[in-house]
Amino acid sequence: MRRRLARLVLLCLGCGLCSLLYAFSQLALEQQQQEEDGARRQRAFPLRRQPSGGAAWRRPQQRCKNVSVSYWNSYWMLPSDVCGMNCFWEAARRYDLSKLHPSEAMHLAVVACGERLEETITMLRSAIIFSIKPLQFHIFAEDQLHHDFRETLDNLAYQEKFNYTLYPISFPTENAAEWKKLFKPCASQRLFLPLILSDVDSLLYVDTDILFLRPVDDIWSFLKKMNSSQIAAMAPEHEEPRIGWYNRFARHPYYGKTGINSGVMLMNMTRIRRKYFKNDMTTVRLRWEQILMPLLKKYKLNITWGDQDLLNIMFFHNPESLFVFPCQWNYRPDHCIYGSNCQQAEKEGIFILHGNRGVYHDDKQPAFRAVYDAIKHYTFGDDLVNALLLPLELELQKTQHTYCGRIYKVFIKQLTKSIQDIADRRSKRR
Ligand SMILES: *[C@@H]1O[C@H](CO)[C@@H](O)[C@H](O)[C@H]1NC(C)=O
Ligand SMILES: *[C@@H]1O[C@H](CO)[C@@H](O)[C@H](O)[C@H]1NC(C)=O
Ligand SMILES: *[C@@H]1O[C@H](CO)[C@@H](O)[C@H](O)[C@H]1NC(C)=O
Ligand SMILES: *[C@@H]1O[C@H](CO)[C@@H](O)[C@H](O)[C@H]1NC(C)=O
Ligand SMILES: *[C@@H]1O[C@H](CO)[C@@H](O)[C@H](O)[C@H]1NC(C)=O
Repeated sequence: MRRRLARLVLLCLGCGLCSLLYAFSQLALEQQQQEEDGARRQRAFPLRRQPSGGAAWRRPQQRCKNVSVSYWNSYWMLPSDVCGMNCFWEAARRYDLSKLHPSEAMHLAVVACGERLEETITMLRSAIIFSIKPLQFHIFAEDQLHHDFRETLDNLAYQEKFNYTLYPISFPTENAAEWKKLFKPCASQRLFLPLILSDVDSLLYVDTDILFLRPVDDIWSFLKKMNSSQIAAMAPEHEEPRIGWYNRFARHPYYGKTGINSGVMLMNMTRIRRKYFKNDMTTVRLRWEQILMPLLKKYKLNITWGDQDLLNIMFFHNPESLFVFPCQWNYRPDHCIYGSNCQQAEKEGIFILHGNRGVYHDDKQPAFRAVYDAIKHYTFGDDLVNALLLPLELELQKTQHTYCGRIYKVFIKQLTKSIQDIADRRSKRR
């Protein structure tokens, strides 16, 4: 990271000099203005890490957005918030800032109730193994699980890669009693995350039965791909309408052809908190905290899958606000138990595995269970090829009597690449 930045600065220094020759007078003019900006920023962001994410990065973008940067951008592969013309000054400042302001943590939330401790820990371990930027975990759990979570997480290796906060299962403080009457606490906790984590800008929510097979950084990067009306990103509930649930059985509106699955949900919560949602209860648009209760009251008798159904209703009425990512980011047994129907996974492998229906813990889908067991038993620091990948491949080969096992290579395609990428990053650092 450091080295990449340093190289970047060097590169920019060189090009900056050319720019200087080319447009010296303009730069001189802008320098003055930027120094003022810089001084202001120092005052505004004296802290090392801003929990709300990216506040300091927004400013260059604003200042630079009407400078023509596309040529420079593609040439240097710089992020879009860096100016081409002003790179000389910009790069110097970025280097400074990154010391002041280490790369933003990625926020990951999970809700763990009942017997989900081990599964949750295994999910968190998979996030830690592959991710590059630091992680901030927000763990919502029943009180009796807190002690075990703390003990396990405090003893994990790679402490430098993550921080965590434990929360009780809770509702927003206003109207807490009323919320409690209407919602089952654990099931609907995720709907309230934008209100409870009110100073977090963006968040990846995952179910406990998720396993990351590539860095969290990669799904996190969809946040930057969303256009200005998109507030959340999810995968379709089904690829194949003939076995879809919503299109055959739902007694309420749902998003798209087959609905969406909320087990992997990326949210720009700043936008969720700001948005006014179209709805079928009143002609007035409602905010997130205003819409949940009326929605539940209206559809209480017609929903089957709880809060996921409510999300489907919301995005049915506000389809422009959802960014849909492909099925290999939320790969479930439905994608293979009746034959393979997630084409992107066949091509590129599974990126995020979602073992719903309890398949990590019974013998119905041994391919899913094999991946879970491999990550659960992997000891941090051991060689990933010999201690994780090869034994897993052997186990998967034993599952070829099942539909999912028949395409077992799909389960390790991305995993193999992720492990190779880790080795490459290590050798570069050396
Ligand atoms: C750049 O954008 C700002 C605000 O959006 C505007 O005031 C300014 O005139 C623009 N400059 C140029 C050169 O287009
Ligand atoms: C965890 O939090 C501490 C204190 O706020 C901070 O110094 C550290 O950099 C954080 N680590 C990660 C990986 O985010
Ligand atoms: C609930 O389902 C019933 C039966 O399909 C339907 O008649 C009714 O309109 C539904 N209620 C709502 C609020 O959509
Ligand atoms: C989330 O949306 C806000 C408001 O549009 C934006 O300022 C912020 O940069 C976005 N966050 C990320 C991580 O893209
Ligand atoms: C964002 O993308 C969605 C889906 O493609 C689209 O419906 C919406 O109009 C887009 N919004 C903007 C502001 O471009």
